[in-house]
Amino acid sequence: MDLFEKIRANRGPIGQHAKESHGYFTFPKLEGEIGPHMVFRGKKRLNWSLNNYLGLANHPEVRKADADAAAQYGFALPMGARMMSGNSNQHEQLEAELSAFVQKEDTILCNFGYQAMVSAIDCLVDRHDVIVYDAESHACILDGVRLHMGKRYVFAHNDIESCEKQLQRATKLVENTGGAILVITEGVFGMSGNQGKLKEIVALKKKYKFRLFVDDAHGIGTMGATGGGTGQAQGCQDGIDIYVGTFAKSFALIGGFISSDEQVVEYLRYNMRSQIFAKALPMPLVVGALKRIELMRTQPQLKDKLWEITNALQSGLKEAGFNIGTTNSPVTPVYMNGSIPESTNLILDLRENYDIFCSMVVYPVVPKGVIILRLIPTAVHTLEDVKYTIDAFSKIYHKLTSGQYMSEKIAAI
Ligand SMILES: Cc1ncc(COP(=O)(O)O)c(C=O)c1O
Repeated sequence: MDLFEKIRANRGPIGQHAKESHGYFTFPKLEGEIGPHMVFRGKKRLNWSLNNYLGLANHPEVRKADADAAAQYGFALPMGARMMSGNSNQHEQLEAELSAFVQKEDTILCNFGYQAMVSAIDCLVDRHDVIVYDAESHACILDGVRLHMGKRYVFAHNDIESCEKQLQRATKLVENTGGAILVITEGVFGMSGNQGKLKEIVALKKKYKFRLFVDDAHGIGTMGATGGGTGQAQGCQDGIDIYVGTFAKSFALIGGFISSDEQVVEYLRYNMRSQIFAKALPMPLVVGALKRIELMRTQPQLKDKLWEITNALQSGLKEAGFNIGTTNSPVTPVYMNGSIPESTNLILDLRENYDIFCSMVVYPVVPKGVIILRLIPTAVHTLEDVKYTIDAFSKIYHKLTSGQYMSEKIAAI
């Protein structure tokens, strides 16, 4: 069979809907000043879909630092991989500051959080080792696990009994292979908003020999007393052996990093293929990240404001009777039930008639019949935004449950 023919015949689970959804449900364009009020299809909408947790994306000091760094260094610098010709004092300073921020000995920068996870997993384990990982892990963890040549055991999401069972299997196996065990989970799960049960997993170290690897993409900057992450929030940061953060969310930037013991980070520096064989993070991103860390340290009110909005949104939704699951982070999923056509009409109504833009998750990402509207509160939302949204959600929920979205006619565009 011809490869392109095969691709034309099977467009993929989401791609098969591209024709109807492109530009609206998928690949929508949010324009104008980045923040809670952005333009979608020519009209301002209240936007709950950006992981701009601390509101840094359009913070004047951040914008100035980014512009100054771009003017001073350009985006070409440094040329080459860190190991060969792409190292700089600024890269090393950022690594030192990130290490202090997440309370680890050392840090290596990566170009994306995704790449950090995939590459670090690939670099750290060999075919004798066993990976034990959470079933609801992000795609970057799954892709890293795919590269692993040894055994992998998955445990039911956030289920410590299941995790322990898999640790028992893994322990038996490595007794024969002579390998080691790596447990991988997330600080905050981006769909449900559940914190990973890091403290309980760390406690299992008393019974089993393993190292714990945590992807804290949503936790860095948002969780813990100083924003040091979910381990800090749960009082078990020391028990996390390898910590990954991204700049794509609370930092409102691009990039990622891996923090751990000095010797582990040195090992990654000299062995992690995606950094050895690829160009280093551009200088403006590094200088921009330094500015963001400074603001996270000196302006704790940003995180306080994020939590004020988060608490108002989540308690308001609950009081209005909505099911927001078991989130214990800013990520706020609102669970509803309905068919795909109903969810389509609901989103159309929400966007076109209430001017609210948020992400929607439906089958095949979640089981058939489940609709998740995912809200990401930020420090730059207001309590009025919260109130307006809860009122609008109550109205659309009434329409959904009274069958009004079953009609195709509701489509407003
Ligand atoms: C849990 C998790 N890990 C990693 C990533 C990827 O981060 P980045 O966008 O920096 O590649 C994301 C972003 O969606 C994420 O939610």
